[in-house]
Amino acid sequence: MAGNLLYLSDSYQKSVKTKILAVTQKGKQTFVMLEQTVFYPEGGGQPSDQGLIAGSNGKLKVTHCRLVSGNVVHEGMLKGTFTEHEEVTAQIDWTLRFDHMRWHSARHLLHEVVTQAIPGLVPVKGEHGTHAYIEYQGIINPKLKNRLETETNMLVAEDRQFATEFVTIDELKERVAWVPEKLRKNKPLRILTIAGFAPTPDGGTQVKSSGEVGPVRVTAIESAGELTRIYYAIDPLPEPVKKTTRSTENVNTQSMTLNSFRTLLIDIENELFEKISKRAVHELEALQVEYFGSHGQATELIKELRNLPDFERKAAGQLVNEFKSSIQEAFIRRRESQTPVNSQWFDVSLPGIKPPQGHLHIVSQAIMEITEIFSRIGFTRVRHKEVDWDEYAFEKLNMPAHHPARDEWETFFIEQPTTNDQRRTTKKIVLTPHTSNGQVREMEKGKLPIRMINIAKCYRRQSDVSHVPMFHQFEGLYIDYHVSIGNLKGVFDFFVQNFYGEKRKTRLRPYHFQFTEPSFEVDINCGICLGKGCKLCKSGWLELGGAGMVHPNVLKAGKINPDEYNGFAFGWGAERTYMMKSGTQLDDIRLLYNNDLRFLEQF
Ligand code: DAH
Repeated sequence: MAGNLLYLSDSYQKSVKTKILAVTQKGKQTFVMLEQTVFYPEGGGQPSDQGLIAGSNGKLKVTHCRLVSGNVVHEGMLKGTFTEHEEVTAQIDWTLRFDHMRWHSARHLLHEVVTQAIPGLVPVKGEHGTHAYIEYQGIINPKLKNRLETETNMLVAEDRQFATEFVTIDELKERVAWVPEKLRKNKPLRILTIAGFAPTPDGGTQVKSSGEVGPVRVTAIESAGELTRIYYAIDPLPEPVKKTTRSTENVNTQSMTLNSFRTLLIDIENELFEKISKRAVHELEALQVEYFGSHGQATELIKELRNLPDFERKAAGQLVNEFKSSIQEAFIRRRESQTPVNSQWFDVSLPGIKPPQGHLHIVSQAIMEITEIFSRIGFTRVRHKEVDWDEYAFEKLNMPAHHPARDEWETFFIEQPTTNDQRRTTKKIVLTPHTSNGQVREMEKGKLPIRMINIAKCYRRQSDVSHVPMFHQFEGLYIDYHVSIGNLKGVFDFFVQNFYGEKRKTRLRPYHFQFTEPSFEVDINCGICLGKGCKLCKSGWLELGGAGMVHPNVLKAGKINPDEYNGFAFGWGAERTYMMKSGTQLDDIRLLYNNDLRFLEQF
């Protein structure tokens, strides 16, 4: 359909070898129609392309193009002669065109921003060039100028993709929200989708992605009657740097900018693509050296990176990387195309090789999920010491030195130079055997109420199938006025329903901990029989961990008045809690930390 209008399918194509369909002469002007063209004819607010059509006996300097009955008429002054059916090369002035593309794409970006900010506006028309504007039916507050400019530039910075596709009139009507009243009949229908926005009808030339547009300025918003024009501008591309000035000695390094660098890179890329496709395979190596050797043309240009202003260097670096990989691919493709077929045979229908993809360790997953659920009811994850004074791990938790309850924790003590006297005191350092040391530390921050979740590593002198010397606990602490056991039960039910599933609930069993009164062990109903008792769980309930109402002595140790405040606390093993979720019965819990990928990959 749009076979002859090449700019519609590839706005980056700069030239084409084609044939002359018709030539006419009016006064000094010559009008030429081609079988195919890369020239954009004036329309849709985008000015016409200019350039050159060269045949064997003549050259037409194209100054203007129009679309007539689906064909582009190229107009200009002819030097020499053209004959019908003769083969010619049509080449556009790329600098001018790229400028037009940037203006045009800028218009679309601005339009998306405008319609998001002010719904209900009807676009009327648009114009590029020195007084570029978009006209809408509707009133726009001029104070929005800065906001529209900022948001448009945000789209530029996000480097959003521009994709175009051809459609039938029915598809067009179905897919776009607004169809222009006067759709030109002689033009193929095309829609443009800017990543993240709804498609719009568009027949102009567009950049590949918004980053190419560069900074956009909204210069004025002016209303007349019920029409409003938003004027905008982009900075022009610098003068094209001629091919002959490509080597470093000749490039005026002072004027090197991202745009001129990009133009040079695109030139080399096009030149190389052509050479790669034309050279024999045994000549490719020499070609590679010619461009990428230590004084090769591409190498010399890449060295120019250092002459770019700081803020443009990163973007230029990215261009260079893209350039290198597309050239490399072209070399590879060319080499492969020459390799004898039978030695290269492969089954294209085979599935590709997927690169291995990692994921977080099962315990990190557990920590993230637990934190997220508690955060929904106002608990904040905090971090407290994993190597701490004995007094926080025991003494301030209502377990003075030599208290027998301490024996339940097979604690690692850290040796430190102390006098005999000190050794008798509790000033010892421990690898925390539980996360409860975080309780008094949190209270000492002096901020009430407290809603903390302390998830940390714990250490105990145990290693067997059901114990590892390093594991994780999560400790919850809630201190406020009038906290009840009902609150504690409610929080547990909320957690298990969100973590294990809606049908799960908890029950409390009386227990003893030094730091809570009363104390409980918390059980959860079995996920299979929901509490009735089955082969797996036997009693219908599984143990989750410890909890209780914070002991007044612990509150006092944290400088909180127990007559005024109270609260609850709980401490559960993260590994155990998480393993119970997947129903995985680990024969040996140490597998979690053996770093065997065959095991870890399963979660
Ligand atoms: N720290 C206890 C342990 O490691 C668990 C625990 C029980 C923590 C009751 C608590 C609690 O905060 O209230 O076994």
